[in-house]
Amino acid sequence: MRAVDIIQKKRDGRSLSDAEIGCLINGYTHGSIPDYQMSAWAMAVFFRGMTPEETAALTDAMVKSGDKIDLSAIKGIKVDKHSTGGVGDTTTLVLGPLVAAAGVPVAKMSGRGLGHTGGTIDKLESIPGFHIELTRDQFIEAVNSCGLSVIGQSGNLTPADKKLYALRDVTATVDSLPLIASSIMSKKIAAGADAIVLDVKYGSGAFMKTVEDAENLARTMVNIGQAVGRKSIAVISSMEQPLGFAVGNALEVKEAIATLRGEGPSDLTDLSLTLGAHMLVLGGKAGSYEEGRNKLEAIIQSGEAIHTFKRFIEAQGGNPEAIDRPDDFLPSAERIERVTADSAGYVSAIEAESVGLAAMHVGAGRETKESSIDMAVGVVLYKKVGDRVEKGDTLAAIHVNNTENLEEARKIIRNSYHISPNQPISQNLIAKVIEKA
Ligand code: URA
Ligand code: CA
Repeated sequence: MRAVDIIQKKRDGRSLSDAEIGCLINGYTHGSIPDYQMSAWAMAVFFRGMTPEETAALTDAMVKSGDKIDLSAIKGIKVDKHSTGGVGDTTTLVLGPLVAAAGVPVAKMSGRGLGHTGGTIDKLESIPGFHIELTRDQFIEAVNSCGLSVIGQSGNLTPADKKLYALRDVTATVDSLPLIASSIMSKKIAAGADAIVLDVKYGSGAFMKTVEDAENLARTMVNIGQAVGRKSIAVISSMEQPLGFAVGNALEVKEAIATLRGEGPSDLTDLSLTLGAHMLVLGGKAGSYEEGRNKLEAIIQSGEAIHTFKRFIEAQGGNPEAIDRPDDFLPSAERIERVTADSAGYVSAIEAESVGLAAMHVGAGRETKESSIDMAVGVVLYKKVGDRVEKGDTLAAIHVNNTENLEEARKIIRNSYHISPNQPISQNLIAKVIEKA
């Protein structure tokens, strides 16, 4: 099989066989197929697309390109969640303890973040003492006893995706549905998921700008799951404004704690309950979505959710008192600087991406892999879409230590708020749920 023939076949709009896709991915991973041929192939896929069968074969080939995490020592169905990425998205911190308390084991390998805030691990490390250095056996033991554990990424997972994603980034071939869908799904499957709940975001702060695009991506991913024997459900949710109020590491941990106590922002609570209920269904702990949702609400009300979070933090070296009294134990910034409204009206939009950028400018996120992050800093929104504001009202507060970029951040936040004379029509946070492709 020659790479040039496979490229030509795709260029001409024909479907590739499993063997052809396997040969291409294997050759690329091991270096016998060079970047220039893979680039040409990716561009052919960009224009010609892939059938569901080809997309599933590509996913499978990428999973097989590296290690696969074996979670079989953990009892129960391992349901993983994946979000296509938003600003101030604290759902992972809320969902972990929430579904674990309901009996769905959460064995999470997570990364550090690049961009507006840190990743899940960075956020958790704002809790004094918390660490992610567990051996494999300790990790399994922690999940079996607390229901939940989070460790750093180890092993050589989906090297084909790593190489191909980097290549797509510089060849204008990122925006291809089958390539995005297979990239995401291959990583989840290699990380050991038996079933997957996908949170596909749309809106100004998301990768997919419209509901239609998000739905197409969601269907493609749910299809892959079906084809490779991993039940998957996708929730399409709005990223027309940041989720919750907090954007920043310790700030988001505080928000997650409040949410687990039943005192969180309504959008973050709603999305967490929605995603969590689907995780319970896939994990065999609820017979229906409604039953799952009721169960989770009861778990929050009874205090089991926050209790599970505390046990998890303690099991990984963290100080459990920090969960009871976050204001006393979590890092906080020296200064809180208000951003005020220039005019009166209703908030009609908040550009999520810009708010994320402002948080990064004051040190909440990494601009490059080498930057260090300040756990204490970030942005807290006081007004959200639909809220009435008067001139001079506080729109948001910037929590800051190093004031070097404060004025820049203030400007970005002020510009990210759109104020209009009329109250905007309220939009549902959840646009759609895709259970079958
Ligand atoms: N995220 C991924 O992991 N892969 C893509 O191709 C796009 C977004
Ligand atoms: Ca948030």
